[in-house]
Amino acid sequence: MIEKINGLKGCNVVIKLGGNILNDNIIEDIADDVVKLSRAGVRPVVVHGGGHEISKMMEMLGKEPVFVDGLRVTDKETLDIVAMVLCGKENLKLTSLIIKKGGKAVGLSGKDGKTIVGKRIEKLGWVGDVKEVRTELLDVLLERGYIPVISPIAIDDEGNLLNVNADIAAGMIAKALKADKLLILTDVPGILRVRNNLDSRIHKLRLEELSQLIQDGTVSEGMIPKLRAVMQALEGGVKSAHIVNGMEKHSILLELVGEYTGTVITV
Ligand SMILES: Nc1ncnc2c1ncn2[C@@H]1O[C@H](COP(=O)(O)OP(=O)(O)OP(=O)(O)O)[C@@H](O)[C@H]1O
Ligand SMILES: [Mg+2]
Repeated sequence: MIEKINGLKGCNVVIKLGGNILNDNIIEDIADDVVKLSRAGVRPVVVHGGGHEISKMMEMLGKEPVFVDGLRVTDKETLDIVAMVLCGKENLKLTSLIIKKGGKAVGLSGKDGKTIVGKRIEKLGWVGDVKEVRTELLDVLLERGYIPVISPIAIDDEGNLLNVNADIAAGMIAKALKADKLLILTDVPGILRVRNNLDSRIHKLRLEELSQLIQDGTVSEGMIPKLRAVMQALEGGVKSAHIVNGMEKHSILLELVGEYTGTVITV
């Protein structure tokens, strides 16, 4: 396995970690695997979510989470909560864990270096679509062997902070970096043909098949932005996208050596 990983030296790999994974013991193994990749000369960029923790914090503060097509409706107060949870808690925890494991992690959010430029979706409040990803800061970090760990907060041209979906952020970052692979680690085994049937995983898909899965309702809620992110990434030249169960050990390494455990999507 390590030999195959060594063969990936110089590859850009964007790894998106869903919020549920960050709060499971598996995150220790994932941090170890990210450090292994970095040591082997692979250039991992980590993007994390935090949906569950944000909802928990909102409820503690007496606010009810509302979603439209998997995107969180975000008023000003909710934006503060999103930033507190993502940057102040989840990013801090993940970055320090990777450092503890021996990796050169740097925590940032999409606003830093104006890396993720957002465009406000007004009907959802302070939510953004990703207009552009500027890679200067990431290039500098990656060149020096740092592992960027990114919270999905964008900044728009007026300087407003925007809550962006972490999958979309990861997809657009992968596209901008012309990454070799986009890995989306979540809490289900991949895209399921029947949502509640864990045995109904779709093993392989082509880019052209994705929009139908959204249209016919096969995927819903949090899986919708994943498919949109994958479409952006593959249309932008990323070679393959992988939606996998991050709760399984070594899901990242297995995927990179071609032992596919989830859904693989190619052009
Ligand atoms: N067809 C489908 N196959 C698999 N999962 C699906 C499908 N349709 C909807 N889902 C839902 O998508 C969820 C994953 O998205 P969700 O946004 O909840 O998590 P995440 O993106 O990994 O975490 P975060 O939002 O914190 O980054 C699954 O837990 C499942 O409930
Ligand atoms: Mg999500």
